[in-house]
Formats: sequence, C-alpha cells, structure tokens
Amino acid sequence: MFGLSFLLAAACFHTVASQLSLPESPWLPPDASKGAQPSNGSSPNSQWSNLLGNLLYFYEAQRSGVLPSTNRVSWRNDSCTNDGSDVGLDLSGGYYDAGDYIKATFPLSFTLMSICWGATDFGKGYDMANQTAYLDDMLRWGLDWLIKTHPSNNTLYIEVADTGIDNAYWGGDQHIPEPRPSFQINNTHPGTDAAAAASAAFASCSNLYAGRGFNRGQAYQPPASLTNSSYADTLLNHSQQLYSFAINASGGWLKYQKSVPIVTDSYASSGYGDELTIAALFLSAATNSSSYYQDALDYYKQFSLSGQDAVFNWDSKTPGVYVLFAQLAQAGYEFASGELSSRQMECERYFDNIVNNKSKATLTPGGLIFYDGDSNSATLNPALNAAMLLARYAPIASSSEKTTAYLARVNPNSPSNPHSATASGGDDILNIDTVPLHEAYVLYGAVVGGPDPTDKFFDIRNDWVESEVALDYNAPMLTLAAMHVLNDTNDPFYTSLQAGGYEPVKPQGQPCDDAIQDGCAASGGHHMSTGVKIALIVVLVVVGSVILGLLSYYLWVVRKRRQGKTG
Ligand SMILES: *[C@@H]1O[C@H](CO)[C@@H](O)[C@H](O)[C@H]1NC(C)=O
Ligand SMILES: *[C@@H]1O[C@H](CO)[C@@H](O)[C@H](O)[C@H]1NC(C)=O
Ligand SMILES: *[C@@H]1O[C@H](CO)[C@@H](O)[C@H](O)[C@H]1NC(C)=O
Ligand SMILES: *[C@@H]1O[C@H](CO)[C@@H](O)[C@H](O)[C@H]1NC(C)=O
Ligand SMILES: *[C@@H]1O[C@H](CO)[C@@H](O)[C@H](O)[C@H]1NC(C)=O
Ligand SMILES: *[C@@H]1O[C@H](CO)[C@@H](O)[C@H](O)[C@H]1NC(C)=O
Ligand SMILES: *[C@@H]1O[C@H](CO)[C@@H](O)[C@H](O)[C@H]1NC(C)=O
Ligand SMILES: *[C@@H]1O[C@H](CO)[C@@H](O)[C@H](O)[C@H]1NC(C)=O
Ligand SMILES: *[C@@H]1O[C@H](CO)[C@@H](O)[C@H](O)[C@H]1NC(C)=O
Ligand SMILES: *[C@@H]1O[C@H](CO)[C@@H](O)[C@H](O)[C@H]1NC(C)=O
Ligand SMILES: *[C@@H]1O[C@H](CO)[C@@H](O)[C@H](O)[C@H]1NC(C)=O
Repeated sequence: MFGLSFLLAAACFHTVASQLSLPESPWLPPDASKGAQPSNGSSPNSQWSNLLGNLLYFYEAQRSGVLPSTNRVSWRNDSCTNDGSDVGLDLSGGYYDAGDYIKATFPLSFTLMSICWGATDFGKGYDMANQTAYLDDMLRWGLDWLIKTHPSNNTLYIEVADTGIDNAYWGGDQHIPEPRPSFQINNTHPGTDAAAAASAAFASCSNLYAGRGFNRGQAYQPPASLTNSSYADTLLNHSQQLYSFAINASGGWLKYQKSVPIVTDSYASSGYGDELTIAALFLSAATNSSSYYQDALDYYKQFSLSGQDAVFNWDSKTPGVYVLFAQLAQAGYEFASGELSSRQMECERYFDNIVNNKSKATLTPGGLIFYDGDSNSATLNPALNAAMLLARYAPIASSSEKTTAYLARVNPNSPSNPHSATASGGDDILNIDTVPLHEAYVLYGAVVGGPDPTDKFFDIRNDWVESEVALDYNAPMLTLAAMHVLNDTNDPFYTSLQAGGYEPVKPQGQPCDDAIQDGCAASGGHHMSTGVKIALIVVLVVVGSVILGLLSYYLWVVRKRRQGKTG
C-alpha cells in the first residue's frame, strides 16, 4: 500500500507541468491594507491587477494531491494522495470543491468552462496583469485532473469522497477522513449532464489553448503565450469522446444523480438540455463544424431553451447559451451566418429584463440581484454570473444605449469587487466559530457566499450560506477582473471606501438564512443603514475575515443548500 501510494505520488509530481514558467520570485497577494490605497492612475490599474492575482491565488489554496515546488500557499500540505486507489487509478490532484474536501466533477467542469471562456475573450487582461502563467498553472491543475477522471471513452469519475463522511469532518488537510471512494458514470449508468458539462469544459479550454478567439479584434484575444496545439488537441479529443458518451450511452439520457445517487446531496442536476447545447456550441467553434451546430439548434428547440428567465450557474447554463450563440454569429462562422439579429433579440430580451427589474429575480434593498431558490444559498454567485454575462455581451449589443445599460449596472452595492475570506485552522466541529477565535490563515482572493437578502453580512464562520467559499464562486469574478484590467482606469469601489476611512462594522443581531435561523424572529423589515452597507462591502472585499462552515448540526441544511443551488 505504501509503495503504491508513493509511486502514485511520485508519478503525479512529475506529470504536473505548466507550460509557462512561473516567475522566479512568485507573485503573492499584497497585504489587505493595500486595497485601500488609490492606484493613482497606474496602467494597468494596480487594484484590478491585484484582484485578478488574488482570485487565481484562491484556487491554489484549494489544491488537492502532491503540491508542486512552486506552491505559494505556505500553509497548505500534500493531501489525499491515494485518491483513486479504490478503483486502481490515480485520481489524486485537482481541487477541493468548497470549504470541504470533496472533489466534484460537475461544478468543476462549469468553473473551468467559465474561466477558459472568459480568458478567450479577455485574455489580454491576464497578460497586462502579468498573471497569464498563473492562469495556465491554475487551469492545468484542473484540466489534467479532469483528464484523469476520463480514463476511457465511456467512463467519467464524477466525485471523489463520500459527501456524508466528508461533511462530518472539520479540520485541516492532514487528517482528512478515509476511505475516499471514487464514483463514476459509464455506458450503462450514464450522466448526460455531467458528461456534456465536462465536454463543454474541455472544448472551451481547447479553444483557449488553440488561440481560437471569437474574432472581436485585437483587444479580445486569448493570450498568445498559451497557444499549444498539442494540448488543445488532447482537450478536444476528450471533449468529443465525452460528447459521444453523453448522447450515445447505452443507458440513454439520464440525470447523473440517477446513476450516482450520492451527488443528490451535493450537486444534483436539474436537467441536461442546457449542458448538451452548450457542449455542442463550444464543439462547433472548436471544430468549425456545422454538424455540432445543428445538434445545438436541435437541442435548443427540443428542450425549449428559448425565452427562459433562468439564473446562470453551475447547474443552469441557458443564459450562457444565448450569449455563446450571439458570439458565434458575430464571429462569422459560416454555419451561424445571418443569425446575429435573432441571437441579439434573445440575449436582449433576457438582459433587458434583468436591468429593468422585470426578470424573475428581485433586487435586494441594497441593489443585489436575487434569484429565489438559487441566491438563498450564496447571494453573490448568481449576481456575479449575471454581471459577467452582461459585461461579455455588452459590446455585441444591437445599440450603444444597450451596451451602456448593460455595463452601467454596476452600482456600489452590486458585487463588482468582493473578495476575501480566511482559512480557519480549527478542528472542532462543535465549535467552528470559536476554535480558534481568529482564523489561522488568510485565504486571499476567495469570493464568499455573500450577504443575506436584506444585504447584511454577518461574517460568521459557521454561516456557510454567507461565508463559504467555492470554486464556482470565484470563476465569474476572474473574468470580470480581467475585463477591468483591460479597460478600467478607475479603482475598484472598495478602494475609495477604505481610502475614505470607513471601518467595517458588523450588522446588529443574528443571521436569518438557511444556515442560521436565530435572527429570523427579529429580522422582519430591518434594513441596514448606509454605514453598515458600506461596511458590508468593505468586509466582503478587503478586510474580510472568517469563512466557511459546515457545522455538523447543520448537516441536513448543507444537503439542502446544494439541492437549493439546483435551479
Ligand atoms: C504543450 O503542452 C504539452 C502538454 O501539456 C506540454 O508537454 C508541452 O511542453 C507544451 N508545449 C509548449 C511549447 O509549451
Ligand atoms: C497613491 O498616492 C497616495 C497619496 O500620495 C499614496 O498614499 C498611495 O500609497 C499611492 N498609491 C499607490 C498604490 O502607490
Ligand atoms: C508586469 O511585469 C513588468 C515587467 O516585470 C513590470 O514592469 C510591470 O509593472 C508588471 N505589471 C503588473 C501589473 O504587475
Ligand atoms: C499543514 O501542516 C502543518 C504542519 O503539520 C500544519 O501546521 C498546518 O496546519 C497544515 N495545514 C492545514 C491547512 O491543515
Ligand atoms: C457503472 O457505474 C455504476 C454507477 O456508478 C456502477 O455501479 C457500476 O459498477 C459501473 N460499471 C462498471 C462496469 O464499472
Ligand atoms: C484521443 O483519445 C484516444 C482514446 O483515449 C487516444 O487513443 C488518442 O491517443 C487521443 N489522441 C490525442 C491527440 O490525444
Ligand atoms: C473512443 O473514441 C474514439 C474517438 O471518438 C474512437 O476513435 C475510438 O474507437 C473509441 N474507442 C473505443 C474503445 O470505443
Ligand atoms: C452516435 O451514434 C450514432 C449511431 O451509431 C452515430 O452515427 C453518431 O455519430 C454517434 N454520435 C456521436 C457524437 O458520436
Ligand atoms: C470553417 O469552415 C468553412 C466552411 O467549410 C470555411 O469556409 C472556413 O474557412 C472555415 N473557417 C476556419 C477558421 O477554418
Ligand atoms: C423591482 O420590482 C419589484 C416587483 O416586481 C418591486 O417590488 C421592487 O421595488 C423593484 N425594485 C426596484 C429597485 O425598482
Ligand atoms: C475596451 O478597450 C477596447 C480597446 O482598447 C475597446 O475596443 C472596447 O470598446 C473597450 N470596452 C469597453 C467595455 O469599454
């Protein structure tokens, strides 16, 4: 056993290679107090550049497996180096999903798809911030693991570790409970959504590594230094095989939790029409092929994706489908020619509803867009995803008024800037909040769940709704930050707040959310004062303390949370 794990560990160490060399002296997150210093017209804006760097750094803190010698997160250790040994494979590596230690393929696929798509459009922002090597390193750590989870055409590992065992553990990376079983989908027990989502991630990242942009001119290109046709081909190969697996499995079309019930408690899927469509679209771009495009048109119709008012997140990709259709039409692909105006109509129906407060989402009193059923478990995530899609679509809009309207939706209380949370260092699941009193490590660059529906952010470690971090929470913020590095000479909002001398103040009372109900009786109608709102932003964005909690008392709520995240 020891011998095997040693060999696996050694093999893992040697296969992890990013293509760009990381700087001799590593980029490290600046002290949080630097977030309060105006950047004084630096070009690119140093605050946005730092934010981009921090957001990437968060992923490094989430790494599983044998860490490379270039590891920047000094308080992280090698961990779970035996993953996959139960099925005779090396499934070590990859990323821990959130504040816990499961590795979950479905939300990871969304995260990678989203980041690669963003870098395909705003790659120059990574270049300008000197972060492209870290982007490569981050992506390959995820993609090389995703490749391992796909060891043959019709097999995809969709989770490593038992959610129940894992949620009962609170502690560091040295005593993560074992066994950590590996769960798969396959030909007889398929998962159409999970296979198609992984296919979409591989195709989106293949486009990035092939240097295939959406033809929007010099400003919007993938970073040239990432171009690597052999890696792009490997990724495309996996994408095509997974797509075939998704649509041709002998077990038919099935939500993946039907084959692997354990994910019902964490990341159950609400359907596969959106994943099939977005995979077919990314593949049509990757291969310049009208047959994938025809598939996308067919699914779009079959699953009635037109006219929806859905959230965009790890489970619900339909709004992304609208934007990708528009990008392909605009990019001049022959198979999409003549479609731009109808694609714009679909996108603008969807986005106009959001900016005119006519979507199914509501606005919190402070102005945060809130999708009931999705935002309840993490308010910032749907809002950041909406902001990311709006920013990406804005330049394609049919009029300059719409472009302005879509970009101008960033107001002081919308999440254009949040970042920050801390790693606890505790190991007492019964006293997550108090042991230790102050977090051991600063988790730079993490986007937390976010404030409650009345804009209060309590900053309580065991309030996972407000304070947990996750791979998919950071993804849209990365794309937004890259876009701001490209164009924005103004500092992010939090800089001016801090420079103005505001101190973070905790809201009064107790939270009322899916994790903590103590404040519910008292909460009716209280809205926070402007001072507290400002404090909230500062807390979220700069000073940030405390994170994540999966308290055992709330195990059932944790399960609900992730069910709640399904849209
Ligand atoms: C391209 O990617 C492959 C696979 O990861 C790697 O082995 C190779 O060194 C890369 N090539 C360049 C030129 O970076
Ligand atoms: C910008 O200028 C102010 C005032 O001189 C200074 O306090 C601040 O540190 C400067 N910001 C940076 C990033 O150098
Ligand atoms: C990027 O690196 C160059 C060369 O070292 C340096 O001059 C520049 O200030 C850096 N830019 C940022 C945003 O870090
Ligand atoms: C990594 O190991 C060191 C030394 O054992 C320990 O102090 C630290 O807390 C560990 N990190 C985590 C995240 O558990
Ligand atoms: C196929 O997947 C199902 C569900 O995970 C599993 O029970 C079964 O053993 C797998 N089949 C093979 C041949 O591995
Ligand atoms: C594509 O995948 C097949 C099957 O896994 C493999 O045999 C082949 O070498 C792969 N090709 C590339 C370019 O990675
Ligand atoms: C796997 O898929 C590739 C490409 O789709 C195909 O060429 C190959 O024959 C398949 N392998 C098996 C064992 O079915
Ligand atoms: C699915 O199977 C059919 C029938 O064998 C085949 O014609 C088609 O090419 C397959 N589709 C994909 C995407 O592999
Ligand atoms: C895509 O395919 C079309 C039709 O076959 C062809 O005219 C066009 O040049 C191709 N585009 C690229 C970028 O290869
Ligand atoms: C948004 O619309 C809802 C009702 O649909 C309304 O209650 C709310 O006040 C509106 N918010 C704003 C800021 O207009
Ligand atoms: C960003 O800058 C590019 C070129 O510098 C310009 O074409 C584009 O319109 C700008 N985008 C925004 C949203 O301002």
